[in-house]
Amino acid sequence: RVTLNNCDDDLSIPVIGLGTSSSPRVSPEATKAAIIEAIKVGYRHFDTASLYGTEQPLGEAIAEALRLGLINSRDELYITSKLWSTSADKDLIIPAIKKSLRNLQLDYLDMYLIHWPLKLSEEAKLPPQKEHVFPLDIKSVWEAMEECKNLGLTKGIGVSNFTCKNLEELLSIAKIPPAINQVELNPLWRQKKLREFCKEKGIHVTAYSPLGAFKTSWGDNRILECDILEEIAKAKGKTTAQISLRWLYEQGVSMVAKSFNKERMKQNLEIFDWSLTQEESNKISQLPQTKGLKVASAFGQHDWLLDLDVEN
Ligand code: A2P
Repeated sequence: RVTLNNCDDDLSIPVIGLGTSSSPRVSPEATKAAIIEAIKVGYRHFDTASLYGTEQPLGEAIAEALRLGLINSRDELYITSKLWSTSADKDLIIPAIKKSLRNLQLDYLDMYLIHWPLKLSEEAKLPPQKEHVFPLDIKSVWEAMEECKNLGLTKGIGVSNFTCKNLEELLSIAKIPPAINQVELNPLWRQKKLREFCKEKGIHVTAYSPLGAFKTSWGDNRILECDILEEIAKAKGKTTAQISLRWLYEQGVSMVAKSFNKERMKQNLEIFDWSLTQEESNKISQLPQTKGLKVASAFGQHDWLLDLDVEN
């Protein structure tokens, strides 16, 4: 676990969380069953979002885990959800977090993140038409996020997909600085500048797509089938997935890895009792970089969004 800044009760985040977003979507029943398995094998950190459609099955899984005695109390879990961009408006944020809490059957979140540094009109679909995408009014939006924390609806607040520039703007107005920036991060998209910036400012980084989001519309097999990572894995008797997750851990970040398969869930937790050599780390830091999630195809070509698609 890593202790977070600017949160209630010395909140700490378990280094590995279970991602719950998949495409095509998995049925709520299968999602709930997978999450119960994850709790059984030791996951205590779960990542969801209003967008994913997994808040309800996660809530049901937590309720069931409590009934079955797999956990003694909700406090043993660390739960993140995210504000979807159609609600990124000062008057819509408290209702949005309350809706997420109802879906999750919880009184509070551990972490509530602004999903993207942009606002969508309420009727926008994905991908949105150009006229439905707007810059975020960060001051009023962040004040409402701070209100969520002050009301006890979440222990911590943070952001996702923010660049250094977005964070600088946010830090200049925040009364409560963001605890987390959750971004796409893996051995093939290393975000060195952003990680260094966040470290300097005391913002913890969480990696999404730590395995390259294989089989989703925003990812591919470039991590799991990367020759160099495969070579390192073979030499160490580990899997390529484990090499990627271990590399992330050694960078000081936490990560949300999605697997709904019990064996792979277990495998992804087994990264703590071995390490990469300096030579292996050097090889990884020289791999060519490519981003999986193309912001322009998700939200359209907007000049003020272009920074999100370049390494930062
Ligand atoms: P599955 O759910 O069938 O295990 P990311 O966490 O980067 O979004 O990647 C998620 C993708 O990687 C999913 O397709 C998931 O499939 C797959 N995956 C997760 N863990 C492993 C693993 N240890 N080995 C191979 N594939 C994995």
